[in-house]
Amino acid sequence: NERVTTAYFREAKKEGRPVTMLTAYDYPMAKMVDDAGIDAILVGDSLGNVVLGYDSTIPVTMDDMVHHIKAVTRGVRRAMVIGDMPFLSCHLSREESVRNAGRILQEGGARAVKLEGGREVAEAIRAIVAAGIPVMGHLGLTPQSINQMGGYKVQGKDEAAARKLIDDARAIQEAGVFSIVLECVPVPLAKMLTETLDVPTIGIGAGPHCNGQVLVTHDLLGMYGGFSPKFAKRYAQLHEDISRALQAYREEVQSGTFPGPEHGFGMAEEVMARLY
Ligand code: KIV
Ligand code: NA
Repeated sequence: NERVTTAYFREAKKEGRPVTMLTAYDYPMAKMVDDAGIDAILVGDSLGNVVLGYDSTIPVTMDDMVHHIKAVTRGVRRAMVIGDMPFLSCHLSREESVRNAGRILQEGGARAVKLEGGREVAEAIRAIVAAGIPVMGHLGLTPQSINQMGGYKVQGKDEAAARKLIDDARAIQEAGVFSIVLECVPVPLAKMLTETLDVPTIGIGAGPHCNGQVLVTHDLLGMYGGFSPKFAKRYAQLHEDISRALQAYREEVQSGTFPGPEHGFGMAEEVMARLY
C-alpha cells in the first residue's frame, strides 16, 4: 500500500501495466476510490459540471479547486492525488502559474497538478516543473477551450489537426510533463501517440491502447438522469437508486410508516408518568 508517485507511472508504462485513474471531489468519494485500489485520483475542474452546477468548467476558481482538493486528500492513503489547474490559472505569467500550482500542493495536499493545452502552455509547464511540482498534461478535447472548439467533440481527426496534436504532445513532453491525458482522440491516433511518447498516456474516450484510463466518477456511477458521453461506460445507475430512495422516504413519512419503533429511544414509564 505504498503511495503512488510519478515513478509508478513511468514503471507502469515500461511494464505494460494499465494505470487506473478516476475523479473525486469530496472526502467520502475519495476514500471509496482509494479503497478500490485506483492508482490516481484527479480532482478535476469537472467539479464545475458535476458538483457545482455550472454548465462548463470556465467558472471554476482556484479557491474552488483548493477547497475540494483538501477534502479529497483527507480521504486518501495510497492513490496519487492530482489537482486540476482551472481556467486562466496558468496563462497570465510564470509567477502566477507557479503560485497557483503551488497552492494545489501546499494548501490542497495534492502531489501533482494537471493542466490543459499544448505548446502555448509549455513555458508554464517548465516553470511549474522547475519548482518541484509534477505536471500532467491534457490534450485533445480540452473543455476550458470549449468556446474555441465549438462543442464537445472528437479532436485530431483530419491530418492537420492530428499533426498539431502530435506536435503539442512532443512540446509538453519536452517541457517536462510526467504523463498526458488524451481526451476524445481517435483510437488509432491515441495508439500512435502512446507508442511514440516516452511518458504514459491516460485516455478518456481515446480507446484501449493508452497506458491508462480515466473517467469522471459521477459518469461511471450513473449519477445523472441526463446526458453522458458515449465513452463514459455506466457501471451503476445511482441516479435511479437515489431517486427511488428519496421518494420512498417521502412516502413513508407521509404515510406514517417511518419512523418505526426500532428507530426511537424508550424511557421508564414511571418517570414519564410523573411528567404528565
Ligand atoms: O476535469 C476532469 O474531470 C478531467 C478529466 C475528464 C480528465 O479533466
Ligand atoms: Na479537467
